[in-house]
Order: sequence, then structure tokens, then C-alpha cells
Amino acid sequence: MTPDDTGAPGPVTPSRARLAGVRVLLGVSGGIAAYKGAELVRRLRDAGAEVRVVLTENAARFVTPLTFQALSGHPVRTSLWDESAEAAMGHIELARWADEVVVAPASADLIARLAHGFADDLLATLCLATAAPLSIAPAMNQQMWANAATQANLATLHARGVRVLGPGSGGQACGEFGAGRLLEADEIVARLVDGRGPRELVGVRFLVSAGPTYEDIDPVRFLGNRSSGRMGFAVAAAAAEAGADVTLVAGPVHLPTPRGVRRIDVRSARQMRDAVLAEAGANDVFVAAAAVGDFRPRDIAPHKLKKTSGDSGLELSLVQNPDILAEVAALERRPFVVGFAAETERVEEYAREKLERKRLDLVAANEVGAGLGFEREDNALILLWPGGSDVLERSGKADLARALVARIARLRLGKVPA
Ligand code: PMT
Repeated sequence: MTPDDTGAPGPVTPSRARLAGVRVLLGVSGGIAAYKGAELVRRLRDAGAEVRVVLTENAARFVTPLTFQALSGHPVRTSLWDESAEAAMGHIELARWADEVVVAPASADLIARLAHGFADDLLATLCLATAAPLSIAPAMNQQMWANAATQANLATLHARGVRVLGPGSGGQACGEFGAGRLLEADEIVARLVDGRGPRELVGVRFLVSAGPTYEDIDPVRFLGNRSSGRMGFAVAAAAAEAGADVTLVAGPVHLPTPRGVRRIDVRSARQMRDAVLAEAGANDVFVAAAAVGDFRPRDIAPHKLKKTSGDSGLELSLVQNPDILAEVAALERRPFVVGFAAETERVEEYAREKLERKRLDLVAANEVGAGLGFEREDNALILLWPGGSDVLERSGKADLARALVARIARLRLGKVPA
């Protein structure tokens, strides 16, 4: 065997640096295009990535694990139930190990299982368990690709921030012609590199707040709001992807911490304020995506409030919470301050008022209400800064966050007239 046959990475060229040191978990699902996964391993390694491969059982019918083992230089996994492999690197460890998860080819069946959150084999489980960005390169018959079920599943995944690479169009192994061909390995690598962004934020420190706050009424009840934390977590992930050092102050949410992000969990607005102010001075950018409760009960009852007989009801006396964003904006050595504005009407007008009153560098305004902004996988933003504005059309929160972070990077460097 020549070194080339073993798939050992080729000589160092400028292109090698593109994924240098990036740990790519390549998932290969069943389909005739599985053989192209082997070429992809080589191209990924040529670009400097460290690659580990997981095959579905069906993929292993098309190409042997040994092929991928030789090309990647690492044992290949195919099952959740492999005791020796689990002892070496358990599936959760493998999910944590990855900087990028790429499924190529992604069959219609795998796409459906991912869209519905199945964890019925090793690859689907890893996709669910990882905090790394997930990219899928579909490959299937053109009718299967065009099928409304496949398109709906893709739309679901896209809205969750999964990158869909391709497919290409042309002659298919089944003899038909149309969309559904796996992209060429070089194209997949190029799109992964593009998706990782220019890493223009290396060395920049980002502080992000996310999620709701809970203001306790008694030991079992609280005042809260509908924020899921998705928007703020997406901003933290996008900033980390672009190379920033990210600290995320998270209200009570059930979301995995984005890869490479330092997380501080808090519950109430006052806890969030303390955590943010302790960090703000050490950061270059503060993005306030949290839906901070404006009010809290004046007193927290030490015991569960009892229903009284009759119809006397209960009156809660509320006091105002600190405005964290305004406090950060008022710091003498303040970071670049980005606020969100959640409005149910006159979105742009109220957001501009917040921009000016709180002396922000940028505000990201979104319309909230029934089926808008909160809890959803998608959103739409109006960006306003002193002297400029931009509209980010409705899209998945991951995509919006990347666009927002890119805009922050440019505004900080003064690349957009302010
Ligand atoms: O979490 P998701 O389900 O993904 O939903 C996303 C979102 C709708 C919560 C998010 O996009 C958003 O709009 N976040 C800000 C919500 C909000 O509190 O908006 P506001 O207009 O009330 O506040 C304006 C700004 O002041 C915000 O940056 C907020 O973080 C900040 N603020 C508000 C009150 C307060 N006491 N302290 C603050 O710092």
C-alpha cells in the first residue's frame, strides 16, 4: 500500500489549515452513495481534520467498516451495543468529542429519524446527544427527495439549525435523473469550511444572556415567561463557532450547552444581574437575549400559600427588577452592548426608542406573541444601530444568530458606517 492508499493525510498545503485540528464525526447512512463517504474521509483529513466514522447497519452493507478504519486511522463504530467500543469511548463521549458532526450520505430514512428525534441506532443517538453543529448531505432517489414528507423533515431540521449541504442534481444510480445526488467530497468540505465562518472573532470575549428568569412567589410557584433560551443559546453557539471566548449566563432552561461555551446557570433576575455584572468588565461584547422578568414579588412566602375559603383571591405585591442591560450600558468601561427588544406592536419604533434610551450599540428587535419569537425554532429580526438598520428575514435561530454575530463583528470594527 502506498501512503496515499491508506488515506493518510497528504502533504501540508495551504488548504490543509482549513479544518486544522477540527474533530469531525462522520456519520454514513445506508445507500449506494455510502462509498463516496470513503472519499470524504480522505478529503476531510487532507483539510486537516481528525475524523472518526460511525456507520449505520445499512451503510455497513454497502461499504465495510474496515475501509473507513483504514482511511480514518481509527476504529469505526456501527452499534450502540458494542461493549468493547463503549468501554474505549462511550457514545456520549464520542458525541462530546466532536467539533462538527457531518452525515454524508444522509438517507431519507435517517433524515426522517433525525427530524423526529429518534435515538434508535448509534448514529441517530449521537446526532441527538451532541452539542456540535450538525450538517447533513442528503442522497436519495429524486422522487424520494421531492416527496413532501422528506421536504417537511428537512424544513424541521433546517429550522433547528441543521445545515443541509446539497443535494446535487444529475444522473442517479437508479437510472433516473434529478435532484438527490450526494455532493462531491470537495464540495462538502468547502461548505463545511464556509459554515464554520471566517473565525473573525478569535480573541474576542462574548458575554451572552439567555432564557427566562423565574421570580419565586413561594417554595412551589414562580412568575416566569415563555422564553425557551433558544435564541440566546444560538447566539452563544454562533459566537463560539466564529472563534470567540463565550460566557453564557442562562436562566432556567433545558438546553445543552453549546460546544466550547462557559455556562453560568441562574434563576432570578437578580441572580442574572449579579452574574452578568461580575463578567461584563472582562468581556468585549454583551448580548442580552434573556427575557428578564421586569417585576418580582415584594416578598417570597416561606411556605406554600394556601387557598383561603371563599372567593377572596390573592393579591401579589410586585417590585421592579434591575435593568441589567441598562446597567451594563452605563458602565464606565463598557463592552459593545447589544440588546434585544421583544415587542407585540410598533416593533421598530419601540426598539429604536430602547436603542436610544439605553444607549445601546445595536438592538435586535423581534415581534413576539402567539406563535412568534418565543419558544419557536425560527424567528425574524430587525437590527437597528445608531445610523443604520437591517432586516434578517424569518429563518432558523441558528442562521439568524450567525448573521447577528457577523453584524456585531463588523460594527465593532467600524466596517459599517455607524
Ligand atoms: O428564548 P426564546 O424562546 O428563543 O425566545 C427569544 C426571545 C424572544 C426571548 C429573544 O429573542 C428576545 O427578544 N429577548 C429579549 C426579551 C426581552 O426581555 O425583551 P424586552 O424588550 O422586555 O427587554 C429589552 C432588553 O432589555 C433585552 O435585551 C432584555 O434582556 C433586557 N432587560 C430587560 C429587562 C430587565 N429587567 N433587564 C434587562 O436586561
